[in-house]
Formats: sequence, structure tokens, C-alpha cells
Amino acid sequence: MTFESNIRPIQWSGDHVKLIDQTVIPYECKTVDIKTWKEMADAIRDMIVRGAPAIGVSGAFGVALAAREFLDSKDNEDFIQRLELMGQYLKATRPTAVNLMWAVDKQIDLAKSMAGSISEIAQGLEENALRMLEEDIEINQKIGEHGAKIVPQGATILTHCNAGALATAGYGTALGVVRSAYAQDPTIQVFADETRPRQQGARLTAWELVNDKIPTTLITDGMCGYFMRRGKIDVVVVGGDRIALNGDTANKIGTYTVALAAKAHNVPFYVAAPYSSIDTSIETGDNIPIEERSHDEVTHINGKTVCPEGVNIINPAFDVTPAEYITGIITETGIYAPSELKQAVLSGV
Ligand code: MRU
Repeated sequence: MTFESNIRPIQWSGDHVKLIDQTVIPYECKTVDIKTWKEMADAIRDMIVRGAPAIGVSGAFGVALAAREFLDSKDNEDFIQRLELMGQYLKATRPTAVNLMWAVDKQIDLAKSMAGSISEIAQGLEENALRMLEEDIEINQKIGEHGAKIVPQGATILTHCNAGALATAGYGTALGVVRSAYAQDPTIQVFADETRPRQQGARLTAWELVNDKIPTTLITDGMCGYFMRRGKIDVVVVGGDRIALNGDTANKIGTYTVALAAKAHNVPFYVAAPYSSIDTSIETGDNIPIEERSHDEVTHINGKTVCPEGVNIINPAFDVTPAEYITGIITETGIYAPSELKQAVLSGV
């Protein structure tokens, strides 16, 4: 059963993209107009749009915007070269979530494969970005339907970061599971980790779920073990930024700690993610590049410093949860144990 949810972080307005500005939620809900590929690259880097599938779809629109800007290319070869150069820049804005690389490469491969004039190719890229947006919502609804099966009656679901409508084209992956489970059983509830340093759990997950009237309790990151030991958490569902073929999963920093606590307390731990988050070029998570972000994210909260000057800072934005801590990976085609993932993905199930 699908839950009605209308949050759409990425919208195409005919000649530009409108992004919900995720840096100002929950204080404000406003959109930002993105008219050039460079503005899109900045929006992804500055996290106006964030979340693996959402930056993938945004990247696809970035290529479509670039194509409109490159209509004055000398010939098709020059056009493709300019797109490729731009694609390198766009993909480097956020290095961990593989969906961005997947979507940009898909668009550039499409441009290369198309016969026709430059403006026809540009039109094809715009149509394909729109298709990817619609498909992402459908994929999330399927993830939700599959995932709802693992949520026990009346369960409390713990989630980390924001893997919701805001992190995708709509509906969400982990929160897609929550939404579909809630549609069937309105007695379920969510515990949302705050998710330092950028507080996606407090600012975004809590905002989405309160909007949808799904009962939600906000906890700080260090509290998850406490509540698991007291038997308050029935299942953990998180998203994924890059999943290796063996199931090792990169997700927001702190996810690994939640998985360790879940293992210690026999709480099932699921990753909900589309195939576009699976990096078929890597066997394990050992070589997943981990984005290091600005130290200000750790030293400041809401523009105010929270520590003495001179203290050393380190700020990895993601960690990798080894497959052995993951009960299952919820995808658009079904739920797989990490050991079954490679076969499912490579056989094209
Ligand atoms: O740094 P962010 O906010 O882009 O990190 C987002 C996450 O870690 C999400 O859990 C992940 O992208 C999955 S989103 C469906």
C-alpha cells in the first residue's frame, strides 16, 4: 500500500530546475531556481539538494542544463567534449554517493549514443532527466512496498540521517519503508537520530514525518544503544550512499555505530536503497571514497561556535557498515541478504 506524500525536492520548470532549499528547513520551506549547470554543481556541493538519489537526479538535470548552454558548440564532437568535461566537475562535487556518477554517466552515454542535431540531443537529455525523476519516485514506492513486510505490527523503527522524500525525487527509501508500513499499520512509530554534524535527522527527517503526521521521536545520536538495550527499538532502517557487491554500505557518518549497537541487541538492521546506489565496480566497501567536509560543520551549530578555538577537527561525512552487520538490503526488486546481492544485481533481477 502506498502512502500519499507530496514532498518533491526537485522540479523541472520548462527551462530551469526548482530545488527545495534543504539548508533552511525547518525554519523555512523555499525553493531556489537553478538555471545553469554551474549553479547545479554549487547546489549539490553546498547541500541545497542532498541525499544519494536526489543528487543523482539533480546531476542528470545538471547535464540537461549544460546541454542547453552548449548549443553553440562547433559540432557534435565539440558538444560531447564539453559535456564530458562538465561531467567530471559535476561528479566531483560529492564523491561518496555513487548515484551522482551513475546519473551523470548515463546522461553522457545517452548523448554519445544519439544521432541528430545538438538541439535534438539536448532535448533528449532533458526528457531523460525527467524520466529519471519519475522513475526514482516509482522505485522508492516499490522499495516501500517490499520493505513494509519486514516491519512488525506496532513496531518502533529507528532511522539515521534523512533517507526520505527530500533525499530522493520523492517518497524516500528508508522513509519510503516507513510510509508504506504506516499506510498498513498506523500504530508504528519512528525514532529519528539527530545526525550530527548537519542534523539531517532533526531538521529534515523529523520535518517530513511531522508533516505526514507519522509519530516520531527525535533522539540524539548517542542514545540509540540506550533505547535498544531497553527493548524500545524493533528494527533499524537506513538509506545507502554506495553499496559494494558484497553488501558493505557507505551511509551517513554514525550509521556504523547504530549497526554495531543493533547487532549487540539483536535488532534487525536493514539498508533501503535503489540499484543506482550499488557500485557494481567494487567487491567490498574498502575503497569507497569518504567525503571530508568543512570543519565548520563540527565547530558550529546554527552559526554559533560550540568548542574552543585551537581544538583539532576531523569531519568524515560517511562511514562504511560491513555487510556482516546488515540483515538485508531492501531494493526495488525485493529484499536480499548481503550475500545474495551480487547475484541479484549482476543477473539483472
Ligand atoms: O550528506 P547527505 O545528507 O547527502 O547524506 C545522506 C545520507 O547519508 C542518506 O542516508 C543517503 O544518501 C541515502 S538517501 C535515500
